[in-house]
Amino acid sequence: MSKRVAVIGAGPSGMAALRAFQSAKEQGADIPEVVCFERQDDWGGLWNYTWRTGLDEYGEPVHCSMYRYLWSNGPKECLEFADYTFEEHFGKPIASYPPREVLWDYIKGRAEKAGVKDWCRFRTAVRWIDYDDASGQFSVTVNDLVNDRTYTEQFDDVICASGHFSTPNVPYFEGLSGFSGRVLHAHDFRDALEFKGKDILIVGRSYSAEDIGSQCWKYGVKSITVTYRSEPMHFHFPDNWEQVPLLQKVDGKTCHFQDGTSKDIDAIILCTGYLHHFPFLPDDLKLKTENRMWPLGLYKGVVWDENPKFHYIGMQDQFYTFNMFDAQAWFARDVIMGRIELPSKAEMQKDSQAWRDREEKLETDEDLIWFQGDNVKELIGLTDYPTFDIEGVNKTFMKWEHHKHENIMEFRNNGYKSLMTGTQAPAHHTPWKDAMDDSMESYLKTDS
Ligand SMILES: Cc1cc2nc3c(=O)[nH]c(=O)nc-3n(C[C@H](O)[C@H](O)[C@H](O)COP(=O)(O)OP(=O)(O)OC[C@H]3O[C@@H](n4cnc5c(N)ncnc54)[C@H](O)[C@@H]3O)c2cc1C
Ligand SMILES: NC(=O)c1ccc[n+]([C@@H]2O[C@H](COP(=O)([O-])OP(=O)(O)OC[C@H]3O[C@@H](n4cnc5c(N)ncnc54)[C@H](OP(=O)(O)O)[C@@H]3O)[C@@H](O)[C@H]2O)c1
Repeated sequence: MSKRVAVIGAGPSGMAALRAFQSAKEQGADIPEVVCFERQDDWGGLWNYTWRTGLDEYGEPVHCSMYRYLWSNGPKECLEFADYTFEEHFGKPIASYPPREVLWDYIKGRAEKAGVKDWCRFRTAVRWIDYDDASGQFSVTVNDLVNDRTYTEQFDDVICASGHFSTPNVPYFEGLSGFSGRVLHAHDFRDALEFKGKDILIVGRSYSAEDIGSQCWKYGVKSITVTYRSEPMHFHFPDNWEQVPLLQKVDGKTCHFQDGTSKDIDAIILCTGYLHHFPFLPDDLKLKTENRMWPLGLYKGVVWDENPKFHYIGMQDQFYTFNMFDAQAWFARDVIMGRIELPSKAEMQKDSQAWRDREEKLETDEDLIWFQGDNVKELIGLTDYPTFDIEGVNKTFMKWEHHKHENIMEFRNNGYKSLMTGTQAPAHHTPWKDAMDDSMESYLKTDS
């Protein structure tokens, strides 16, 4: 096939795209030439941890939002690849909430087996993409960071997999500029030990707030105060953890809240989410959305309906992750390879609007999970991605929710059954709160 496809980003979504094309090739298909541009020095996206914050050694924004001691916040059984199981990768069953390094190893394992690393140009930042109606091609301008060389190449199709949990959303609160302690966004949080013995304030009430608070608790923070905008988190937190309505102003080290209370604070961590940020895209290709389950403009959650040669993977808010990125990647691949015929723009938009209408009626996390599961199921039904028990994954998510509500500091001690192999995960050798060493070597030991 003489087509050329550009993939922007080699995180889990971009790697899913690489594996999708390679699996078609493995089955004898004539596939396009695929070139993946990745700004970091290796693949894995957010899972490729760095100690750096701010700008990297080339002056590029640091992509990583992960931190030391990060363990998966959902069961690995819900994100397992249907074509590459945890058991295949590790050679034995492993516990259900692996730390970052273990999941990074798993993601890399499948891509290495597929032999697609030479499709990637690492340390290459995409700077601008233009579409030319006359030629029907995209000009992709990139910067080879190592040699500081800028060049442009032509592509027939583009898959944008640049992630959306890297550019921090940073609100301002009165007096923040005069705060006498440290202020940082979750994106720059790296080590909970920095806050040992301190009184911290966390702004936000979602996953980063919950997990960064839990990390700080585990590693010896003095107290955690969470200030929320909409509602508190509904978990039973430890005694040194309180939740208060929104921060109103900061005066020296004293933080004042909406309910009239105040507290002296050593450090403020803004767990206020991220922006969808595509500085390399013109307006007519750019997805503009907040973090939600059904951004508009994407047919089946993937194809840019204004220009169906442009695709996005992984742009939704996420319960499902790795296997959803696979479902999207296989769909994008089949559209690009002409195996799936797209309807008219009006029909694509109507289909998308119907998903959005349904999304707007969802109320609970459970509703959101079933909704995302339905999207994954539909996509898988349209391609040759190995089918798996989506309902079983949804039910595992329900157990996860239940375990979190039972005990937010102990939910990671539970194990679940793989929907791919049927194997029950063993319990980890050490309860999460006592497991201070998050290395892969330690996690994979069967005895403590
Ligand atoms: C703190 C945190 C913890 C998380 N924990 C979990 C978890 O436990 N379980 C789970 O399933 N999910 C978790 N997630 C969700 C996470 O979004 C997904 O697991 C996954 O990393 C998304 O993959 P992605 O490829 O879409 O994006 P990313 O992982 O963000 O990868 C995008 C890639 O694109 C590259 N890129 C961006 N811009 C450019 C450019 N201009 N040029 C070239 N390359 C570019 C980046 O360098 C990066 O490598 C977590 C997210 C965060 C922020
Ligand atoms: N261990 C882990 O695996 C782990 C750890 C951390 C994060 N993650 C992942 O990272 C992703 C992002 O999670 P996230 O929590 O960073 O982002 P998020 O889910 O988008 O939540 C953003 C939070 O910021 C709050 N917020 C935004 N603007 C605000 C303002 N002006 N004032 C007060 N609050 C404001 C929101 O409040 P409202 O709710 O009131 O709107 C919301 O609680 C998720 O996929 C999550 O699973 C995983």
